[in-house]
Amino acid sequence: MNVISEVSVENLVVERGGKRVIHGISFSVAAGKITTLLGANGAGKSSTVMAMAGVLPRGGSVRLGSVTLEGFSPDSIRRAGLALVPEGHRVLGQLSVEDNILVAALEGSAAARRQGLEHAYEIFPELAERRRQSASDLSGGQKQMVAMAQAFVAKPRFMIVDELSLGLAPAVVKRLAEALKIAAASGIGVLLIEQFANLALDLADQALVLERGCLVFTGAAVTLRAQPDILHGAYLAS
Ligand SMILES: Nc1ncnc2c1ncn2[C@@H]1O[C@H](COP(=O)(O)OP(=O)(O)O)[C@@H](O)[C@H]1O
Ligand SMILES: [Mg+2]
Repeated sequence: MNVISEVSVENLVVERGGKRVIHGISFSVAAGKITTLLGANGAGKSSTVMAMAGVLPRGGSVRLGSVTLEGFSPDSIRRAGLALVPEGHRVLGQLSVEDNILVAALEGSAAARRQGLEHAYEIFPELAERRRQSASDLSGGQKQMVAMAQAFVAKPRFMIVDELSLGLAPAVVKRLAEALKIAAASGIGVLLIEQFANLALDLADQALVLERGCLVFTGAAVTLRAQPDILHGAYLAS
């Protein structure tokens, strides 16, 4: 398997409802690292990652290593190695935990799917215990684990999580954060959107700050932590 060192986004432009919401931003997400994308409500974080994942149309380019993801469907982007965990930890309530995870496994042999499933259970053993349970009976935190397991089962090279902790209890957020650290340590490049900037900056190596569809900071998370004015400015600008 060839090593893909980064996802690079160049001159990304996104329009929603006829209005430009992302104004030509460029950045990269490194393999094996956690990069956090911060910004106030409405700054354009979800639009950015939905465009990267092929869910929203875009201008500009997204490259996965040397492959330009031009004209790729969301499914083929996932297959190429970029998995999005969308905001809202939605699951298929009528299916069991295991079936929720399996529907997200890429096609392949039954053995490969089983292996992907076991990999997801290694990261979230609490899901293995509930594999036969209906997903509708899960807590919000457990649903987020299922949503993340759906990404892990596809063995992605890069994983985007939109709003890791939204609406979840602090104890479970710690578990989810742990899973992202494990993912990064295994070589996966993580792009994390998280409402609690302190939590995000503690986890992240790199940080991006989005303000009204433009990047106002790109650099090391420790640098941003030492410059709180940048964050305050971006959050007040909404
Ligand atoms: N479905 C939509 N139709 C039209 N405009 C939208 C839609 N969703 C979001 N927007 C607008 O796009 C901008 C960016 O939103 P979004 O990407 O959701 O920001 P964030 O994720 O940072 O909160 C906002 O101005 C928002 O009002
Ligand atoms: Mg959002």
